[in-house]
Amino acid sequence: MNKDLITLALESSCDETSVSVVKNGREVLSNIVSSQIDLHKKFGGVVPEVASRKHVENISYVIDEALEEAKVTFDDIDIIGVTYGPGLVGALLVGLSTAKALAYSLNKPLVGVNHIEGHIYANFIEYKELEPPFVCLIVSGGHTHLVYMKDYGVYEVLGKTRDDAAGEAFDKVARAIGLGYPGGPLIDKLSRKGNKEAIAFPRTYLENDSLDFSFSGLKSSVLNYLNNSKMKGISIVEEDIAASFQQAVIDVLVDKTIRAAKKFNVDKIVIAGGVAANSGLRDLLQEKSNENNFKLMVPPIPLCTDNAAMIGCAAYYDYINGYEADMYLNAIPNLKLGEKYKKA
Ligand code: KG4
Ligand code: ZN
Repeated sequence: MNKDLITLALESSCDETSVSVVKNGREVLSNIVSSQIDLHKKFGGVVPEVASRKHVENISYVIDEALEEAKVTFDDIDIIGVTYGPGLVGALLVGLSTAKALAYSLNKPLVGVNHIEGHIYANFIEYKELEPPFVCLIVSGGHTHLVYMKDYGVYEVLGKTRDDAAGEAFDKVARAIGLGYPGGPLIDKLSRKGNKEAIAFPRTYLENDSLDFSFSGLKSSVLNYLNNSKMKGISIVEEDIAASFQQAVIDVLVDKTIRAAKKFNVDKIVIAGGVAANSGLRDLLQEKSNENNFKLMVPPIPLCTDNAAMIGCAAYYDYINGYEADMYLNAIPNLKLGEKYKKA
């Protein structure tokens, strides 16, 4: 029988320091997430330099906790996986240099993981039987991608945002209404009490057959609505603004995802990233998937937002497919989906 492969994975691309121990790619033995959200809240968004410093302070403790919870030691680890992009360069460098130090001192293989790819792999943890091909909608604070995943590590990007990411739009609109940070979960919650048809915010579909997205027009429209109401002295109903805005985002996301799944003739749709936690998106996509006979995969909420378990899963598949890195691996803030690092 083949030996189990245990991965120690590190994620520090934005404002969560996370470390996970994953067995054979899909079995999570521990997944510790130390969030910095409270620290960044008072600035209304992530402050990159503060994030890097906090990662430095936290990472050793988070590693210890992940090993302890998984009941393993460094000796049991076979692979060191780490996010090397995309993300904030200073934040990425903390996880990356720690991972390199571990790989070098323990003499274990190092694997560099693409963060966006990691989000997709969260689904393999939840759905043990899931295999490519499928169409995946990745919606997070930094990314909005519609992807056809042909095989492990093989992608065709069908569409992406031309301006704001979906999560970014949620966060900016939340700030304009006066909600806290991050705005996505707060808008989601408020929307449940609002009327999604109260305000006709625009849906941007772009060219006829385009699978790209654009959310900046919608964001401006919400800001104009708020300004006009203020100037005219009309009181606003926050719940209705939240619900109408959220519906405008998810109508477009769902419509294009279903179109992509039909075009590529797949039977499975997968969603990933922080915005995949949105209840309205999950409900509408489920309804449209049922209508069109697609099986919808939805990761549990802790695996939608940033975490190292998804990085551990991706690192395992990258490793068995030959993507071992070396000490030249560097942080790439704008790393594209499908770009992979392999030692010479
Ligand atoms: O994937 P993630 O944790 O970090 C990035 O890689 O960007 O995503 C964070 C984003 C934030 O913009 C946050 O507002 C959004 O995901 N988000 C949500 C929800 N939960 C998190 N957006 C809408 N509805 C939610 N329930
Ligand atoms: Zn992310």
